[in-house]
Amino acid sequence: MLVTISQIVIGTADLAAAFLFLFGLQRMSSPATAPSGIRVAGLGMVAAVLASFFYLASVSPAAQPHVMVNLALALVALAIGGAGAWFVGRRVTMTAMPQMVAIYNGMGGGAAGSIAAVELFGGHTQGATQLVVTLLGGLIGAISLSGSVIAWAKLDGVLKVPLRVRGQQYVNGAVFLAAIAVAGLVVASVLGVDGLLLTTPQWIWVFFACALLFGVLMTLPIGGADMPVVISIYNAFTGLAVGLEGFVLQNPALMIAGMVVGAAGLLLTMIMAKAMNRSIANVLFTNFGTVAKARPGAITGTERATDASDAAIKMRYAGKVIIVPGYGLAAAHAQQKLFEFVKLLVAAKVMVRFAIHPVAGRMPGQMDVLLAEAGVPYDMIFQLDDINDDFAGTDVALVIGANDVVNPAARSDKASPIYGMPILNADKAAQVYVIKRGQGKGYSGIVNALFYAPNCNMVYGDAQAVLVQMIEAIRGLGAAAA
Ligand code: TAP
Repeated sequence: MLVTISQIVIGTADLAAAFLFLFGLQRMSSPATAPSGIRVAGLGMVAAVLASFFYLASVSPAAQPHVMVNLALALVALAIGGAGAWFVGRRVTMTAMPQMVAIYNGMGGGAAGSIAAVELFGGHTQGATQLVVTLLGGLIGAISLSGSVIAWAKLDGVLKVPLRVRGQQYVNGAVFLAAIAVAGLVVASVLGVDGLLLTTPQWIWVFFACALLFGVLMTLPIGGADMPVVISIYNAFTGLAVGLEGFVLQNPALMIAGMVVGAAGLLLTMIMAKAMNRSIANVLFTNFGTVAKARPGAITGTERATDASDAAIKMRYAGKVIIVPGYGLAAAHAQQKLFEFVKLLVAAKVMVRFAIHPVAGRMPGQMDVLLAEAGVPYDMIFQLDDINDDFAGTDVALVIGANDVVNPAARSDKASPIYGMPILNADKAAQVYVIKRGQGKGYSGIVNALFYAPNCNMVYGDAQAVLVQMIEAIRGLGAAAA
């Protein structure tokens, strides 16, 4: 068999893409190497796009009549997609990152679904196996597309309330079974069985409609706090769909990228579910993440406020301080001010460490990225398991814009929706200061017993404004001593 030059170029580009994806992913495992990991994986994507381009350019319409070749259109699509992504990527804020991930994920699912649609409507599938794989990829891709759009709408606040009706799971189950049944009819229709009520293209339309509807129905009842987990599940779905369509097109770059995305999405889902002490089924089929109803009498007492300067001075003369950052730190863009404050404490010989909860913020690794962005050295940052026992011997725990991840109800209150979720033991420190704007709840919508504890004081205000006051208080001490 003669191997042409274009086949060698395409094969090499595919291999390079696969290697760069895996190498990039491996570098993303540490905050120190993650930025270069992103760039390496991006290069992999360039290699994969080039491989597809060479493939299209080398296709002979006579030999492969089912492959549509329109290089001009492909270039226009690449230019629009690339420019749009560049523009949005540069403008997106850290707190809006989950929405962006949701919508990009949906696009991946939509792309896989579109490949399936082109193959099915064009009658290009050869044999029952290819037909079934195409339909499976189309089903998963379409679910991921419509589900991700709903997830985006919820995260962005466009859809505010989870829509949950009695018997919803039965309706969802019926729609899913309908999609599978219609897929069977598409197979029968394509393979030439007569008397199936509708024509093949009509069955294909019904199939995609059922799949898209299922994605919407499955996501609507899930609460906001669970959306990042849902996005991660859809991420795994998208990867699987892309991998399946890569098999249909016999495109190795698509197969590899799909498998990598699918496996990474699945692992991430499992890590997040474990960090919340919940099963994936529990995330999908319960209404955790909807605003919890207040349970009168569950927590008594009042929150005690203190001044930013008093809290800062106490920390200046402490031996050990652990800082717990949460979503509010990201919302206030206060990471630079926080590190400025920490540097003053370190200069005063205070041992300062950061404790990161795996689901602090609104997306995995958000706190690590924020702290890295501010220049906090990695050896000051500790994950939950590595630092949790140290709170007991710590003088001050400073909680900044965090709430659910330090809620002791997760340890003791069996009726709490977050019961069983591992939390950071900030309440075990001798003194706890909590910086937040007011009485706002965390994402799970429940009251935090820590704020009422005798060793806890609240420092009310926007995290950035409070930290500015804390910095001034410590600098004021230095000026007074001079
Ligand atoms: P949250 O529990 O959401 O609490 C954030 C707190 O920040 C709020 O109580 C709010 O109180 C305060 N805040 C907001 N803006 C602020 C500002 N500008 N300055 C100061 N404080 C501000 O955050 P968390 O502790 O990080 O927990 C994360 C939650 O998200 C968990 O329930 C977790 O399960 C959920 N979740 C996260 C993920 C990932 S992957 N991270 C995935 C799924 C679910 P005020 O309004 O009073 O200021």
